[in-house]
Amino acid sequence: MVDVTMTVNGVSKSGSVEGRTLLSGFLRDGLGLTGTHVGCDTSQCGACVVHVDGVAVKACTMFAVEADGASVDTIEGQADADGTLNTIQQAFQDHHGLQCGFCTPGMVMSAAALLKENPKPSEAEIRDYLEGNLCRCTGYHNIVKAIMAASGQDVAAIAAE
Ligand code: FES
Ligand code: FES
Repeated sequence: MVDVTMTVNGVSKSGSVEGRTLLSGFLRDGLGLTGTHVGCDTSQCGACVVHVDGVAVKACTMFAVEADGASVDTIEGQADADGTLNTIQQAFQDHHGLQCGFCTPGMVMSAAALLKENPKPSEAEIRDYLEGNLCRCTGYHNIVKAIMAASGQDVAAIAAE
């Protein structure tokens, strides 16, 4: 077993993991942060996207020991302490960007990373950025709309589709 310490959503967290423990497993099973979903464990679905040192990462593609000393942000850290949703989360709610919600944590974390590097993405850029995030319910349309809205852009054009 290996001891790891990382800052998760601004709070220092430690644990003891096997070398093979994935970051997704440590977050869920070690820290109880089950908002990071695991849909495949093979880097296909994007449900497990978190930010590691500010960069979007599929948490099933990284060992927990590789995140030792890093700053990790998960879906649990996105809303305010009083539960107020952040801009992206609120936009997903307002524009019906989720149905079952399984993909949503990864979608929100990917959207946050996109808007950080590209605050006003085009519809095509949003769709391109989300190619690693799979959704089985929504058909993506309302997810794209939500991200457009979260970026402060007019959604009328795609809303008419
Ligand atoms: S669980 Fe990580 S990509 Fe599917
Ligand atoms: S809302 Fe169900 S998988 Fe995306």
